[in-house]
Amino acid sequence: MTTLTSHELADLIDGLAGLPYGGEAVDQRTHALQAGWLAARAGADDELLLAATLHDIGRAEPVRAAHPGLPHEDAGAEFARARLGDRVAAVIALHVPAKRYLVATDPAYNALLSPASVASLRRQGGPMDASEVAEFDARPWAADAVAVRRWDDAAKDPDGPVLDLADVLAAHRRLTGGN
Ligand SMILES: [Fe+2]
Repeated sequence: MTTLTSHELADLIDGLAGLPYGGEAVDQRTHALQAGWLAARAGADDELLLAATLHDIGRAEPVRAAHPGLPHEDAGAEFARARLGDRVAAVIALHVPAKRYLVATDPAYNALLSPASVASLRRQGGPMDASEVAEFDARPWAADAVAVRRWDDAAKDPDGPVLDLADVLAAHRRLTGGN
């Protein structure tokens, strides 16, 4: 495991401030902490709370720089695998396919998508077909990725609640056992 200190994690999340979130009204830091808040409200455990908060961490400059050319979900997963474990990494990697999964399996989900999210769905390949849905369902932590995806889609309110950074750091300390 590569060590990730509280300080480094805080810097990484704070570094998302002011970074645009593709056509939405929130910046990346607010989006991250609002996804984390929604996870906490739903009773998520520490790993899932961290996965929700860090699902787009592949867009943070230091993570992008460390994984040039990778899509943000894969860069974020690579970053997380060495520091936060396989479950957090898998959920981050799957949060993009989870959108294509939900569009294919939940009729109500489409109505929740923002215009920017509908536009990006086309670029992402549109709804999954039946074999892709079955393949997704068989992956470890698929249900966690779907939960994070729903929080991701809901975390776009500039006036909405956000998790305190201190709560993210506390979850990280419990998970990694200190520092
Ligand atoms: Fe997101």
